This record gives sequence, C-alpha cells and structure tokens, in this order.
Amino acid sequence: MDSTHPGHGRYGQDLFDAGHPGEAERIDDAALVYDPVTTHRLRALGAGPGLRCLEVGAGTGTVARWLLREADVAEVVAVDRDTGALAAEPRLRVVTANLTDDTLDLGTFDLIHARFVLMHLRERRHLVSRLVSLLNPGGRILLGDAAELPDAHDTSSSSAYRRTMDAMWEALRTTIGTDITGVPAYPHFLREEGLTDVAAELYCPPLLPGGPLARFWSQTWQRMRPELTATGRVDAATVDEALDYLSSPHLAELGPGLLMAWGRRR
Ligand SMILES: C[S@@+](CC[C@H](N)C(=O)[O-])C[C@H]1O[C@@H](n2cnc3c(N)ncnc32)[C@H](O)[C@@H]1O
Repeated sequence: MDSTHPGHGRYGQDLFDAGHPGEAERIDDAALVYDPVTTHRLRALGAGPGLRCLEVGAGTGTVARWLLREADVAEVVAVDRDTGALAAEPRLRVVTANLTDDTLDLGTFDLIHARFVLMHLRERRHLVSRLVSLLNPGGRILLGDAAELPDAHDTSSSSAYRRTMDAMWEALRTTIGTDITGVPAYPHFLREEGLTDVAAELYCPPLLPGGPLARFWSQTWQRMRPELTATGRVDAATVDEALDYLSSPHLAELGPGLLMAWGRRR
C-alpha cells in the first residue's frame, strides 16, 4: 500500500476486531481514564432528565450507562457497528449500524456525543454535518478525539516510545484512514455548521507505569505489531523496548490527550 495515502480499510474489520478476546478490556482501560472528564463536560452541557441522547460509536457503553444511571436522561440511542459489548439497560436502544451509511435513520436528539470514533473514519467532516443535522433546536453536541502535543525535548524524537507512537499513527492512517491532525479544527467545524456556544478543551491524562492508559497503549501496540513494523519506522525490538518502557518506573511522557469540542444548535 502507498504509505502516503489514507488506507481503504475499516475500524473493526481491518484493525481492532471486536471479536478479539481483549478488545472490550482495551476500550474499558481508555474509558476508565477519560470517562470522568467526558461526563463532567456532558453534565456541564446539560445532561439530565428528559433528554434524548445519541451515543455514537458507543463501544462498551460506559458513557451511555452514565447518561442513563447518573444523569437520568430519558433515552440513549447507542449506535455502533459492533454492539456485542453493549449490555441491555432500561431506556437504552442499541442500534447495530455503520455510521457512514447515509440512509441510517436515528431520529433527532437533545444531546449527541462521539468519542474516539470520528478520527477513525475518513468521512469525519461529512459525519460532523450529519450529526449536527440530528440535533433538536437547543440541542448540544460533544465531539472528542485524540490530540498530541509536541514532544518536550529534541532527543525524544528518537526514543522507542516516540518512534512507536508515530509508527502507530502512521499505521492507523495507512490502514483504516485514521487522522488526528484535523482534530484541533473540530470547534471550527462546529462553527461552520452554524452552532453557537462553541468551545473546546484538551485533557492529557497522566501516563503512569502499568496504569490503565499505559495498559491501553500496550494492548494497542501489541495488537498492531504487524502494522507497526510494516511502516518501516520501527522494528520488533523497538516495539518491545517501547512496551517495556510503558510499565517501567522510568516512564516520563505526556501521552496523547482527549480534545473535546462542543456547541449548541440555535
Ligand atoms: C476506540 S472505540 C471508542 C468507544 C467509545 N466511544 C469510548 O470512547 O469508549 C471506537 C468505537 O467506534 C466504533 N466504530 C468504528 N467505526 C464505526 C462505524 N463505521 N460505524 C459505527 N461504529 C463504528 C467501534 O466499533 C468502536 O466501538
């Protein structure tokens, strides 16, 4: 495959098969770290009784369950191409569907949330328009995806950690079309869609040796090992060194963060 072009593969098909025995745990490890900031922001955006909500690419359903159990919203529609990890819950409607299917009719919503989904889909800009079009007047949307700050010092560019992380983003791009370079533009996308009260924030959680985030990256790199080495940026020994580093007391990195952007339909 031409490594300069986004790949034609798909999340869940060409990478991160939902049937893999460790996939739900991998997603849950990230959710453990990010759910507190996501739910804090959803609460600030008015998540509460009476709202009809859409959880896009719901994964294992941690946010959908929070909306129902803690925020006490009226209903959550959870859509994902793989819904095997979504347990039944009162007022939860599970929809197994491909988001890129333009014929998908989900209804309209007071609150829409998508985290770590759009960055994996080549149609992300079009999908932002489509999701905004599903908002009721006064409805709010929260988009969250990964963002990386530049490394702190020059030598880090040659570290096993940095080379493996860079190889991962490149492998994701050339395999399934993942792109995080456009994530900081999300607030602009929401303005272009005519939304008001648009703002954004970035949360970079601590990357602690053996902690949930380190486990998440470790699982991700182990699952992507063939794709990582195929980029030519890393060999197997470098990936091993980066994996060891994630659980070592020497770990000292600012890991990728969650950029959240939100807005309200007039
Ligand atoms: C990285 S996981 C994030 C899960 C969840 N949003 C979270 O933050 O915990 C990405 C999710 O998006 C789903 N997904 C990926 N591509 C999709 C598509 N084209 N249509 C529907 N769901 C998709 C995957 O099945 C997976 O559950």
